Amino acid sequence: MKDIFDQIFDTHKDTRVFFSPGRVNLIGEHIDYNGGHVFPAAINLGTYGMVAPREDDRFRFYSTGFSGQGVVERTRDDLAFREEDGWANYAKGILSALIQEGHALTHGFDLLVTGDLPKASGLSSSASLEVLVAYIANTMYDLGLSRQAIALLAQAVENDYMGMHCGIMDQLIIASGQKDMALLMNTATLETKAVPARFKGFQWVIMDTRYPRKTTESKYNERRRECEAALRTIQAVKPVNHLCELDPNTFHDIQHVIKDPILLKRARHAVFEEARTLAAQEALERQDAIAFGKLLDASHLSLKEDYEVTGFHLDTLVAAARQHGAIGARVTGAGFGGCAIALVSDQALPDFQDKVGYDYHDITGLKAAFYQVTFEDGVGEITI
Ligand code: GLA
Repeated sequence: MKDIFDQIFDTHKDTRVFFSPGRVNLIGEHIDYNGGHVFPAAINLGTYGMVAPREDDRFRFYSTGFSGQGVVERTRDDLAFREEDGWANYAKGILSALIQEGHALTHGFDLLVTGDLPKASGLSSSASLEVLVAYIANTMYDLGLSRQAIALLAQAVENDYMGMHCGIMDQLIIASGQKDMALLMNTATLETKAVPARFKGFQWVIMDTRYPRKTTESKYNERRRECEAALRTIQAVKPVNHLCELDPNTFHDIQHVIKDPILLKRARHAVFEEARTLAAQEALERQDAIAFGKLLDASHLSLKEDYEVTGFHLDTLVAAARQHGAIGARVTGAGFGGCAIALVSDQALPDFQDKVGYDYHDITGLKAAFYQVTFEDGVGEITI
């Protein structure tokens, strides 16, 4: 990595290296902007940043994943969003938000970014990059931001600078993940509880449809608006702050006030996904893999039928996984393509990838990818 750094930036300065993970969400999908509980883990695939301070006020960014773009170079007073800066906008957005918050970024830096997270696959490559840059800035300028503050800053950049109105899940798990744990995260209060995320005799497998997400941003923002509209209707009869404050019974009693069938489906997903997530955490604590698997399946069905964020490729991959030994499988992340997760028994594991991959290819013509990941700590400085 240092060779590339020296070559790209034509320098031989001392560098520091940081790693920011990607994330997988076990269950609790599309409810982090509805005040619900979500259950993500940080993973060993992620984004690496090698950085060296500069004496002037210039920032230079280079990513091996976007080498065609070359070095993007901007000064401290020129960090506004520009289409042509591509991926570097995420980094600029973070720096610009820090300046707006009153932090003096006393000098610039050179940053080389590389990584092994597949892009646009639903494993949060963008949040991984945002949190990486925020953490680097926090360390380099000694800003004293907590991990939670870093996550909130990164989310604000995604919302306001990049225009994707995401919830807090991705940035918070990437900032504060814990090795071998999933974090049950209350997105209304930002409280988290670490739960060991393994079932004895089973493995988590991430399955990538390799069907790139396309309209994710506009569809995602549309779902969010739909939930807000459903919430406003419900607030006319029940004083709640979030859809996920409603338990399934209460929802059953008042759902008739939502006349629009689309909004009704969106709200139903949020309310029942919240109940499933709490039940999943209990299943994990009592090591009941079968119960957890059923909740995964029910979550996928709800995201398919009620929330309508899965699609042909994800549905096909998830069905093939169940066919070949997964005791539960579901889309993970925003959906509209990208990745799914499966809980697979040790016995089924040796053939799982070949069989699922074969069926998926037969039906879709695409070659799926499979990742067996470990759950890791959040962003940090590393030695390589
Ligand atoms: C994306 C968003 C998250 C979350 C998920 C869906 O990953 O960034 O905030 O809403 O989709 O659960």
